[in-house]
Amino acid sequence: MNDLKWIKKRKSVRKYDSNLKLSSEELRKIEQAFLQFEPLNPDIKVNYRIVKTEETSCAFGEYCFLLYSETKEDSLLNAGYLLQQLDLYFVSQNIGSCWYGMAKPEEKTWNGLDFVIMMAFGKVEESVFRTSLNEFKRHPYEKMVKGVAWKSALSLSLLAPSAVNSQPWRIETSAQKIKVYRTSSLIFKAAKSLVDYYNRIDMGIYLYILEACLKSEHILYERELVQEKAEDKMKLNACYKIEGKGD
Ligand SMILES: Cc1cc2nc3c(=O)[nH]c(=O)nc-3n(C[C@H](O)[C@H](O)[C@H](O)COP(=O)(O)O)c2cc1C
Repeated sequence: MNDLKWIKKRKSVRKYDSNLKLSSEELRKIEQAFLQFEPLNPDIKVNYRIVKTEETSCAFGEYCFLLYSETKEDSLLNAGYLLQQLDLYFVSQNIGSCWYGMAKPEEKTWNGLDFVIMMAFGKVEESVFRTSLNEFKRHPYEKMVKGVAWKSALSLSLLAPSAVNSQPWRIETSAQKIKVYRTSSLIFKAAKSLVDYYNRIDMGIYLYILEACLKSEHILYERELVQEKAEDKMKLNACYKIEGKGD
């Protein structure tokens, strides 16, 4: 999949035309696509359900994709990483979607796995998607990244979506390494545990988008995930050792 194309085009779609419907063939292809996505951690069991939006508290879209997961270290990162691939797949098929943290399904568990997050989706006209990078509201590079190594890939990675556009990622870059931190200094009215929950999903989203941007520039890397330390304000989540540039 040409991820970069979809990264530049994607946006959260909250308005759907009820005359446009997904076909059963399209739904079958979504399930097939999901099964091909790469997890961040293959040891974490996940499962999914596609339900009509009315079966959840979600306010828009024709269907919702519900992600269930084992609850363990990295399960939120893994959920973000996996469903971001779905978000990009949707763009490639002219299917609008929106990550939806505020909504809950009827079933909070499924086959012994816990509900993590959902994505609302539905058929749209291609014209709903972005056509210019100027349409993204994102923090500037200088606020988010220390260093200029691999700048063009890192600039594009900042287009990643996040809950309430919080953009909790902070980056340090050098010729040899890209370090990805989660800042815990963001101020929200919501409880800290809730902010941590969604921001961990955001970090999984960011890691997927970052890797797609590195790959698009043929930058070879080895990823190491790092367990967050509660006492750190800037919590290291991942370190990418840069191994060079391919053709
Ligand atoms: C984990 C997560 C949860 C989100 N929850 C909601 C939500 O409950 N309602 C909503 O309208 N948008 C939700 N969003 C969408 C964000 O508000 C949106 O991604 C962000 O503002 C950036 O805009 P963009 O996706 O159009 O680039 C969520 C996004 C993420 C990543």
